[in-house]
Amino acid sequence: MRKILVTSALPYANGSIHLGHLVEYIQTDIWVRFQKMQGNIAYYICADDTHGTPIMLMAEQENISPEELVEKIHKEHSKDFEDFCVNFDNFYSTNSSENKELSEEVYRALVKNNKIFEKEIEQYYDPDKKMFLPDRFIKGECPKCKTKDQYGDSCESCGSTYNPTDLINPYSVLTGAPPVKKKTRHYFFKLSECSDFLSKWTKSGTLQKEASNKLEEWFKAGLSDWDISRDAPYFGFEIPDAPGKFFYVWLDAPIGYMASFKNFAKINKLSFNDFWKKNSEAELVHFIGKDILYFHALFWPATLEYSGYRKPTKIYAHGFLTVNGEKMSKSRGTFITARSYLDHIKNPNFLRYYYASKLNESMEDIDLNLQDFSAKVNSDLVGKFINIPSRTSGFISKYFENKLVPLKSIEDKKARELILGIINMKDVVLDHYELRMFSKLIKLLMGQVEALNEFVSQKEPWVLAKNKDQHKINSELHQICSTCLNAFRLISIYLTPVIPELSSKIALFFNESPYESFSNIETEAVLITNYVHLLQRLDLNDIEEMVNSNK
Ligand code: MSP
Ligand code: ZN
Repeated sequence: MRKILVTSALPYANGSIHLGHLVEYIQTDIWVRFQKMQGNIAYYICADDTHGTPIMLMAEQENISPEELVEKIHKEHSKDFEDFCVNFDNFYSTNSSENKELSEEVYRALVKNNKIFEKEIEQYYDPDKKMFLPDRFIKGECPKCKTKDQYGDSCESCGSTYNPTDLINPYSVLTGAPPVKKKTRHYFFKLSECSDFLSKWTKSGTLQKEASNKLEEWFKAGLSDWDISRDAPYFGFEIPDAPGKFFYVWLDAPIGYMASFKNFAKINKLSFNDFWKKNSEAELVHFIGKDILYFHALFWPATLEYSGYRKPTKIYAHGFLTVNGEKMSKSRGTFITARSYLDHIKNPNFLRYYYASKLNESMEDIDLNLQDFSAKVNSDLVGKFINIPSRTSGFISKYFENKLVPLKSIEDKKARELILGIINMKDVVLDHYELRMFSKLIKLLMGQVEALNEFVSQKEPWVLAKNKDQHKINSELHQICSTCLNAFRLISIYLTPVIPELSSKIALFFNESPYESFSNIETEAVLITNYVHLLQRLDLNDIEEMVNSNK
């Protein structure tokens, strides 16, 4: 039995969860549910990422304390995840005592290992607001193409990247005042000294091929030391022995993985060290988006290595979500929040199924085409999958008191083949889950669903039911429908990590408790309940309304 600590990246506490985020949380949730169903010990750990300037300023604008803002968002995020069946074992916060202690401890260990140095730097400062400005809070004319109102790091018009100090006529986004350059002492992590260690580590099978190629580019360009401090005012943890200096949010955010687990371990009487000490036998698996690879594949393992902790076993990066082939956009109404989806479309199974049908082990972007989304879920889930019980269960209720024929007494050759084929697929199904080849998995299972539907059409149970020769029809009708229902049940068990909520309803239909293990494949259902509507079609109008309400 494996012991696996699994994480998704910690969502920022200054915004709502949207459909882009959900690619990651759904992907990870499917994988963790799969691990649990296979009998492994897996813990799904996450938290809100609460520190930094944007959160501080947002709280200021709303006239509440950052703590209050963080609290409010935590409630909202928790509910969103719950309603999408994203089942964290712990969803905590980086603004916690555990995280403060661990961040300080990690920092002290880095100091002790001579990995931290101080340096005076020059930064833009807003003289009205009396604070140093992050790049995103400075705008000005692009030094290349002279377009006005461009951000301090890159130009949206010509795409060039530069330093905020290169902008022409810079101004502070907060006050409009021209920022002044000001000297300040900062703390740096000597990442440049970690090249050898990192270049070895990143080639040790921890990363996807594409990710390690990306890293190769970064190694070639040379690693720069990492500024881990920010000046007050800043919402975060003050650096020990450095009054007025705070840890940059990206220092304490990944430590938030440890802190959330520490909190979870305490409540559940688990050993923190078993999972985090060097030479730990547990696996540590991070799911992330490709945009934060640099932090997870360079800073994070280096931080762990030089503070005496274990390193990640795997980092699985996924691509970005586009909607209708384009970046999510507020003006097009495609910047869709989790809540807005739930308000209009309601059913989380649809999005989970659609994402699964698109996700694979690569870092490629995935597209949510809303037309295709409704066509696919209606055709696959409603038209084909749920169609099986809706075409067959009525006969079982009407003529056979809801009882199913045991599989061992099924005589029809084709029926036996179908069932055996599905049972024997188990290893392939498990492999596909393990390797995150969800789209392939869905194709495979939908192939079986189609075969079952063809079988029903061929056997025409509705014709058999009308046959005069009572004894013979009864037996054949009973066998055909029982086969289809048991086959449907097996496919539902396989699909449980993807559509857990629908799968629970299906279990109930078979008078069983929710499927928590793939060993359910070895058993069969004997009795159904009267058929209730398991799934409602997705209405295109709901999608239209959702898009309009987001414009
Ligand atoms: N707070 C950091 C992560 C810290 S982890 C120690 C962060 N937060 S985020 O809210 O911006 O993003 C959270 C996760 O969602 C990231 O892995 C990010 O890649 C992912 N996504 C955010 N927008 C996305 C899409 N449009 N598409 C796919 N994934 C996206 O980064
Ligand atoms: Zn430009």
